[in-house]
Amino acid sequence: MKVIASLSLSGGQGKSTVSVMLAKYLAQAGHTVLAVDCDPQSNLTIFLKHTVQENEPTILELYRKQVSFEDAVYVTDTKNLCLIPSDDGLDQVQDYLANSGIGALTLRKRLEPAAKTFDYVIIDSPPQRSQVCKSIIGASDLVLIPAECTVKGYGSLVRTVDAIRELKEDGASDAEVMGVIPFRDRWVGRRRTNESQMVIDALTGEVGEAQVLPSIRESEIFKKAISQGLLLEDFNKPDLAYPFETIIEQLEIA
Ligand SMILES: Nc1ncnc2c1ncn2[C@@H]1O[C@H](COP(=O)(O)OP(=O)(O)OP(=O)(O)O)[C@@H](O)[C@H]1O
Ligand SMILES: [Mg+2]
Repeated sequence: MKVIASLSLSGGQGKSTVSVMLAKYLAQAGHTVLAVDCDPQSNLTIFLKHTVQENEPTILELYRKQVSFEDAVYVTDTKNLCLIPSDDGLDQVQDYLANSGIGALTLRKRLEPAAKTFDYVIIDSPPQRSQVCKSIIGASDLVLIPAECTVKGYGSLVRTVDAIRELKEDGASDAEVMGVIPFRDRWVGRRRTNESQMVIDALTGEVGEAQVLPSIRESEIFKKAISQGLLLEDFNKPDLAYPFETIIEQLEIA
């Protein structure tokens, strides 16, 4: 089993987009996948068409060890893809993690039983640096960092890389950065816009060429596909799925 986080410490960087698309494409490729929503905004839960009913366990109850792993996992409409959902109650977990002796390792522990059933665990993250983010970094084997092709996106990447480095230095994480995914990469005809190019050059300078993955193009099709629970080929745009195909190829080779 590989645990992969989609993490970037600012809002709107493409974390939930990467989480849902990677989870669906991995499942489509025949892998068993568990999507874990660790964001109180619960966009991944919404994208996977799950509604949390009152008294139903979510990731919050799993963090607090109030339910077993199995009780927090739900099937989705997509074959091979299950979900641990979240809702806005997840904010309450911050104190629990802050007061726990093993804050950064809590999620890793709670997700251990997933290895019996799942090939991949994909975690969606909240945008702020928080106890939850620490626990996500602590739980991950690999981190994908989406970064919007703007100055804010570059800043988010730098902060995220720093946060991972700090936890690794403290021995609280073994996570490796799998790569940076430039998000909302804008092109006009055959030319990338100057802003996108400038930011991608800066991202490359920061992490090295080998770690900059193919970008997610600015496209309304992505938004439509996600909100309708579809894939990019359902809109006759299979080329847009190239970033996910590349990631899956790299995972399958490793
Ligand atoms: N390819 C795309 N082109 C343009 N916009 C996109 C694309 N894919 C997704 N979006 C939109 O970009 C916005 C941010 O994406 P997303 O929700 O994945 O970011 P996030 O990092 O998860 O945000 P948050 O920090 O709020 O959780 C969303 O409104 C989404 O609909
Ligand atoms: Mg999100």
